[in-house]
Amino acid sequence: MTVSLLFKVGILALSTNFLGCTRSEVSFWSDVQPIFEKHCIDCHDCGGEGVTASGFSVRGYDSVMKGTRFGQVVVPGSSISSTLYLVVAQKTAPEIQMPPHHNQAWAEGRGSPLSDDEVEIIQTWIDQGAQDN
Ligand code: HEC
Repeated sequence: MTVSLLFKVGILALSTNFLGCTRSEVSFWSDVQPIFEKHCIDCHDCGGEGVTASGFSVRGYDSVMKGTRFGQVVVPGSSISSTLYLVVAQKTAPEIQMPPHHNQAWAEGRGSPLSDDEVEIIQTWIDQGAQDN
């Protein structure tokens, strides 16, 4: 009994260690949505300029998955194909990096840059399948 329990604990420790190179599961609602609320919602909700210009709202999972009026910005499982990731990771043309027109918007207290950690959370959430979790 004790031996088998120890064995199971050992296996668990091993598998946890094995997965050590990837981030543990990211939750949309507890990890990703708070980032949108901190950095994006001023412009990307209701009549905000981001919604007016692109149709993209970060109100919740459904609207994030719906994307802009031109199409989806999240490709589940592939951050590198996802506009959402590319714009926050500063991997697009400067005009569409998010938050946009940095200095002016920041000076007005609207939007602020994401930390590397926040960018990685969004990236990992997409790569893990962009789940409603
Ligand atoms: C200061 C207002 C503002 C803030 C803050 C802001 N956005 Fe935007 N966003 C815009 C505007 C304006 C557009 C339309 C820009 C364009 O297409 O030229 C846009 C467009 C977008 C698009 C569509 C890009 C495309 O080309 O399809 C995405 C995705 C996006 N924003 C995500 C975000 C995310 C994520 C955040 C938070 C990290 C954010 N935005 C913060 C104003 C904002």
